[in-house]
Amino acid sequence: MKEDINIGLGFRREIAGNFLEEGGIHPDFIEVAPENWIDMGGYWGDVFKKVTDKYPLILHGLSLSIGSPEKPDWEFLKKVKQLVKDFHVEIYSDHLTFAKMDNAHLYDLLPIPFREDAVKHVVQRIKEVQDFLERPLTLENASYYTSVAAEMTEQQFISSIVEESGCNLLLDVNNVYVNAFNHQYDAQEFIDSMPLERVAYIHMAGHYKIQPDLIIDTHSEAIIDPVFDLFDYTIEKMGPVPVLLERDFNFPEMEELKTEMGRLKSICQKNWTSDVIQQGNI
Ligand SMILES: [Fe+2]
Repeated sequence: MKEDINIGLGFRREIAGNFLEEGGIHPDFIEVAPENWIDMGGYWGDVFKKVTDKYPLILHGLSLSIGSPEKPDWEFLKKVKQLVKDFHVEIYSDHLTFAKMDNAHLYDLLPIPFREDAVKHVVQRIKEVQDFLERPLTLENASYYTSVAAEMTEQQFISSIVEESGCNLLLDVNNVYVNAFNHQYDAQEFIDSMPLERVAYIHMAGHYKIQPDLIIDTHSEAIIDPVFDLFDYTIEKMGPVPVLLERDFNFPEMEELKTEMGRLKSICQKNWTSDVIQQGNI
């Protein structure tokens, strides 16, 4: 990526054509899950080649399962390493969660207990994976709906892991908002306690309120104003990193996504440049 301000969009099959058409949607970069594209041939393999020729690529995986008890899946990571090399990927990210146990896929991103023994375990695994990939991992703060046997706060858990492992942080601002709402803490205080100098990548997304005291991180709705405000509050305290609009379901008209990306870009320009805002290059 060339400029300081890069606003990306998840490349999803449902909206794939828009990324290549004139008058479609043209983000500064795209993000995909490597699991969905490794070894892809045929029609979709060609589309992937075209789209990655046109846009810089960031990888955001689903199955690293960094918190699992067993060894990492080295065969999978070998393919990720090759994908990173072939497509000049700057960031390979995944979640600070676990999704597998005893070789069973749990099909969910579950919170790792906020505990000292878990910190030690995860730090060791991150170091092994980073050594293998020969690059830092970038791990995302997850949304969670109940904490398990916690003996420290989520902030202490994340900060310890980042500090001890040398990994980078993918800060999902919507996840901070969702967790703060559901677990009744102050989202700005949470942001203040994050190692913001280690944030390499930001996610922004919408969520869904299913009852007055519970919201779910769905990536299926527009971003709400308080999450934009929290984003503004956050990036004022840090330097430029790529920012992704995550939209995975319930796709609206492209104009709506363009407007959201334009708003993210304006907030970035306000905080990260002193230049006159340039419109219209999305
Ligand atoms: Fe995210």
